[in-house]
Amino acid sequence: MEKNVKLAIIGGSLLKEIDSLSMISEERIRTPFGQPSDNFVTGEINGLEVVYFNRHGVSHHIAPHQINYKANMFVLKILDVTHIIAITAVGGITEKMSPMKWVVPDQIIDYTHGRMHTYNDSNDKEVQHIDFSYPFDEALSNKLVTALEEESCDYETSATYGVTQGPRLETIAEIRRMERDGCDIVGMTAMPEAAFARELEMKYATLSLVVNWAAGKAGDKDTEPEIISMDEIKQRISEGNRTTEKIIYNVASLLK
Ligand code: HPA
Repeated sequence: MEKNVKLAIIGGSLLKEIDSLSMISEERIRTPFGQPSDNFVTGEINGLEVVYFNRHGVSHHIAPHQINYKANMFVLKILDVTHIIAITAVGGITEKMSPMKWVVPDQIIDYTHGRMHTYNDSNDKEVQHIDFSYPFDEALSNKLVTALEEESCDYETSATYGVTQGPRLETIAEIRRMERDGCDIVGMTAMPEAAFARELEMKYATLSLVVNWAAGKAGDKDTEPEIISMDEIKQRISEGNRTTEKIIYNVASLLK
């Protein structure tokens, strides 16, 4: 049990809304860094105060490279959020990361470019470097693992999340390179979100669902890899939604 916990849930392609969230307020909040992605909904899940927003906006119109991560995370800080669970749909690179596997990653490699990625760029105060050896909060990640256990989900931990720029998916050669680098899964949104959370001293963990084999990893990988089906991705995302909600509910109970 932790004291004064306020949990934020960041939805993405997965988790466009949370049915179990009993809404208390919905706010549109301005920041010095521009417009955040969406309204912020405050409510309760299982007695715990929770803030929810979707990083892609209400009608999923903001592409991963256009998300104003800096404004979004600043709002969470203004709302006194202490813990953040980021939901992401990802591609599977290494063998265990098969479609419909749940993953609680523990490392990140950032391949993004041109995204606003720090609050330390105003030049009017001393630059604060952050330690980022472990980009995800271990205790919060462990709670996600407990929640996955409670739902008897098939899951993996110890996974490196490679963050690409998007919105296109990767080439086969890019995925091969990412695998050589040590990436297990690939997605487009964990950075700079995770780094902003660390700069603002909020605990951040990610729950990922593998919704496709990454480029070149499906079918016969050596002779005839299959191309990626967007319909299959959509289907898996909709299959994963209910379980995502249950996991969130279980984590809320663990944090109360
Ligand atoms: N690549 C990048 N991001 C993704 C993928 C992928 O294959 N699947 C879901 N998000």
